[in-house]
Amino acid sequence: MAPQDAILGWDEDSNAEAYNAFTRAHPMYDATSRDLARRGHLANASLVVDLCGGAGATARAILDLLPAHARVVSVDSAAAMQRVGRRTLNDARLTWITSPAERLADHLRASSTDAVVCNSAIWKTDTVAVFGAVAHVLRPGGYFTFNVGGGFAGVRHPAELSARTGPSLNALIRHVAAEVRGYTPPPRNADRPPKLPLETITEQLSGAGLTVVGTEVTAQQSTMAEKKAWLSIPVFARPEGDFTHAQQMQILDTAYAMTTPDTPVVTSWLVVVAQRPMVAA
Ligand SMILES: C[S@@+](CC[C@H](N)C(=O)[O-])C[C@H]1O[C@@H](n2cnc3c(N)ncnc32)[C@H](O)[C@@H]1O
Repeated sequence: MAPQDAILGWDEDSNAEAYNAFTRAHPMYDATSRDLARRGHLANASLVVDLCGGAGATARAILDLLPAHARVVSVDSAAAMQRVGRRTLNDARLTWITSPAERLADHLRASSTDAVVCNSAIWKTDTVAVFGAVAHVLRPGGYFTFNVGGGFAGVRHPAELSARTGPSLNALIRHVAAEVRGYTPPPRNADRPPKLPLETITEQLSGAGLTVVGTEVTAQQSTMAEKKAWLSIPVFARPEGDFTHAQQMQILDTAYAMTTPDTPVVTSWLVVVAQRPMVAA
């Protein structure tokens, strides 16, 4: 998906409110944000960027680890997401910049930033441009932590495979949409290469002057009920195509009724920690 396509749904108030309500009611984005923040060496940081920060779920995790004098700048292209964040997250250390991540270097001085954290978004961006901008603003020795959804990175944690006991909610949605609305799912190309595998990430980071210093495939545990709540957020609702949100929600309700709410659902993530090398003395 081109960066501009991704912005359309995010920059709608109804979506932003639904997303924010989800992040506060369910652990997924909070847990992945806290994981990235923990890996970012933030204890002595003065300036941290929350890249693609949305409504502030990741900023909350960063702020919890930062000293009182430090600052967080949350950068996102969707003003609607940031309106929710400004209203709901009051911390004098936090400021908001509405901008594509690709333009980060327009807003911060070179080598000014101790760490950049990007939760659940990097694959929506032009990663070559973003990695270059991050390398520009990071100080030597500064850290860049981000994650990539398992499907986009082409990784699966073993727990995801062992948790599978029946059809996924997405598969049931496709089934119901086909039965009830004559939906024809787009052909699934099982051989299609992942959009952002670690090899590509490593090569692009290296091209930007950043070094991968750690990677891990992690598993985020949730339930069918949480997955349903996630699929109710307009930007994530399925099936894509010629459906209103109300129709998508009817299909979701029918599909969900075929499941057991507390069935475990596991989501895999590729976590990457990169660093701007220290300048040789
Ligand atoms: C799943 S949300 C994650 C938000 C936040 N990091 C969190 O964990 O809650 C993805 C965010 O990425 C933002 N986004 C997508 N593409 C972007 C781009 N090219 N530049 C800046 N923000 C972008 C969207 O507007 C959205 O707020």
